[in-house]
Amino acid sequence: MYANKEYSSSIMDNSGTIRIGDVNYDFPIMMGTESEGAIDLRTLRSKSGYIAFDEGYGNTGSCESSITFINGEKGILRHRGYPIEQLAERSSFLETAYLIMYGQLPNMVTLSAYKRNILSNATLDAKMYPLFEGFHKDSHPMAMLSAIVNSLCTYHSEYATNSRKLDLEHFDAASSILMSKARSIAAMSYRKKMGLPMMESDSNKSYAEDFLHMMFSKQGMPYEDTCGASKALDLFFLLHADHEQNCSTSTVRMVASSGANLFASISAGISALWGPSHGGANMAVIEMLEAIHASGDDGSGFIEAAKSGQAKLMGFGHRVYKNYDPRAKILGKSAVSVLEKIGVNDPLLDIARRLERAALEDDYFIKRKLYPNVDFYSGIILKAIGIPVDFFTVMFALGRIPGWMANWKEIAENPKSRIHRPRQIYIGENERNFIKLEKRK
Ligand code: CMC
Repeated sequence: MYANKEYSSSIMDNSGTIRIGDVNYDFPIMMGTESEGAIDLRTLRSKSGYIAFDEGYGNTGSCESSITFINGEKGILRHRGYPIEQLAERSSFLETAYLIMYGQLPNMVTLSAYKRNILSNATLDAKMYPLFEGFHKDSHPMAMLSAIVNSLCTYHSEYATNSRKLDLEHFDAASSILMSKARSIAAMSYRKKMGLPMMESDSNKSYAEDFLHMMFSKQGMPYEDTCGASKALDLFFLLHADHEQNCSTSTVRMVASSGANLFASISAGISALWGPSHGGANMAVIEMLEAIHASGDDGSGFIEAAKSGQAKLMGFGHRVYKNYDPRAKILGKSAVSVLEKIGVNDPLLDIARRLERAALEDDYFIKRKLYPNVDFYSGIILKAIGIPVDFFTVMFALGRIPGWMANWKEIAENPKSRIHRPRQIYIGENERNFIKLEKRK
């Protein structure tokens, strides 16, 4: 059972004042541990009758969290205080997952018990296999992942606990089941698509090795990792493990705030991740690079299309980073090393490099502070290790599961957390009388 330390922001002595008409309203000022300040507007409506309007939540703090810190201006990303660069160099995906969920680096005994729990949980309930058969043959693997992850709560109902009644032992069991079985679901979806029979997991392998084995091994022909694929995939998962209050994580928190169980909440996060503005961008980047390659353009045509608003340079720009995404720097280097090990010269990497250089020297991108994000180079690595393009976002989801679960746990552990329920500015019709059907034009 692993409980987290409690953190909270400090309330400053001075307050913030908002003047509406002739009236001043005072609100407390909160300060986080990295000196990020906020005006606590929770009583704005009851005091003044007004609400805060912030479409897209670009300026709204939806929670206090002690998991991940990002400074988008400086390009800083830290999990539980540890810089992403150090974790990428010295840690592994499972160790970082533990850190993200439980707040501390595990010691040797704890880490080995944690790994054992996850690695030994890969086998799906046999009653789940027909689920894969029920999907249309062209089903997107993200649809399958979201649906089948949700279904896990029916096969493990003893751990599908209401987030309002957190039992830490249940959380530990549910989170190990989810981490491990999401990987088996992803591999099984691929095999179903390829017409291949299921492949038993091998719990003696590492998390990434076993995933590649379940995806690609064939009867009598075990998958051979000749290019450091499992190491590259482990790094890919680690770099995606959490990223503060992004669209899918906020979705998980929103769903969890209603009391929904872990499996249902993570399934909702998977759906939110699917979109091309979020996790779906890693697929869109490769499609863009392939289209540029096929057209024979050097990329400048695409840059012009992005500047004129006809296209988006996929893998570029971020709501929070106004500097180079530190994950993109690490993945850019990893892409080169994977391709070198395979001995492949992927023209898409050259195109990506050219696009990056051109964009970073172009006024349009400089003015808007648009830099490569995590998705810009990740697809080149996934493609090199044989992951099909429509599974790229599934890989992102597998990596992000620890972050989603840590955020679910934060909601569940906070006795003060309330159901998330934003307000709106209604802009529809004023009251009008119902018109009988025969009298309508
Ligand atoms: N290519 C061209 N112009 C862009 C791009 C881009 N990739 N991203 C933003 N802009 C422009 C945008 O058109 C706007 O221009 P203007 O001021 O003239 O109207 C300006 O930059 C500000 O952009 P925004 O739309 O206000 O930015 P946002 O914070 O709402 O959106 C974003 C962030 C990531 C959705 C967006 O940058 C984007 O669509 N990028 C491409 C998709 C992508 O790579 N997504 C992955 C994000 S990182 C992984 C993750 O967290 O999921």
